[in-house]
Amino acid sequence: MKIGVVGAGTMGRGIGQIFAQAGHSVTLIDVSADALSFARKDIQSSLQRLAGKGKMKDEPDAIVARIEFLNDMERLKNCDIVIEAVFERLDIKKDTLARISSIVGDSTVIGSNTSSISIDVLSRAVRHPERFLGIHFFNPVPVMSLVEIVPSEFTSSTVIEHITEILKDVGKDPVFSRNFPGFISNRILMPLIREAILTYEQGIASPADIDKTFRLGMNHPMGPIELADFIGLDVCYDIMEVLYRDFGNPAFKPPVTLKNMVDSGKLGRKTGQGFYSYEVRR
Ligand code: 3HC
Repeated sequence: MKIGVVGAGTMGRGIGQIFAQAGHSVTLIDVSADALSFARKDIQSSLQRLAGKGKMKDEPDAIVARIEFLNDMERLKNCDIVIEAVFERLDIKKDTLARISSIVGDSTVIGSNTSSISIDVLSRAVRHPERFLGIHFFNPVPVMSLVEIVPSEFTSSTVIEHITEILKDVGKDPVFSRNFPGFISNRILMPLIREAILTYEQGIASPADIDKTFRLGMNHPMGPIELADFIGLDVCYDIMEVLYRDFGNPAFKPPVTLKNMVDSGKLGRKTGQGFYSYEVRR
């Protein structure tokens, strides 16, 4: 199959990679040449890690050769499936989806990798809502097997079954959520991250001790604050904003510390500075 992915950020490049690994040809689109060149490097290094563990049947170079890195959306024309993975902002997602929908053929399935935005609302941007649904991947996409499938009120059952089969075929293990803010994962995860940040903000414990509590006390691979840095503090902020607005519940309101860090460009691992400091790979 020919798979299109729009947005070459952390999620988009991971999504492109897993489809290429499974033998599909992938068109990865981004407006930024820098993002595309970093995506190629990042996918190569991820594939080297997996190859070193004997987890792939093809060579990394052969897999990368199945991906075209482009900035021209028109090249999505012949795709069987297109997955949108741009910023978690309603206006940007709607514009991108409308553009994708105006380019692809009538039988193409379009998915949105939104973390929290209503699939019913997004489906209004596409020409064929019956062939549109939420397909929410987890970071790092090549490692995490979970995917949340979120149909809208209009998604056809044939499309849900078809996408479920394809996702299983590329090694993913789906769960199904009704279209509701934050779906299953972020509705539960974001309040945890929020409380962890507030616990630090109120001077109760250091980020290191909050994280240690979850690593050693609950057996989480990462504590909630290091996980927030890993996801991206801007992404966490955007998701909390959507949950706060859609539920109208202050229990989802982004903490001031999180807002200040996002405003000052401390976005976590990807910028080298979040609650912790990191070496930036670029
Ligand atoms: N590509 C390929 N392989 C990778 C990889 C990547 N990008 N990142 C990690 N790996 C592999 C490593 O090679 C290693 O493989 P092995 O077990 O065969 O040796 C394995 O994954 C573990 O990696 P590391 O040894 O480097 O490091 P850790 O053991 O610390 O694991 C982690 C890293 C997998 C990121 C782990 O810390 C983890 O699972 N963290 C939690 C991640 C999580 O919760 N993600 C979901 C976030 S929520 C989300 O994405 C939704 C959004 O809407 C917010």
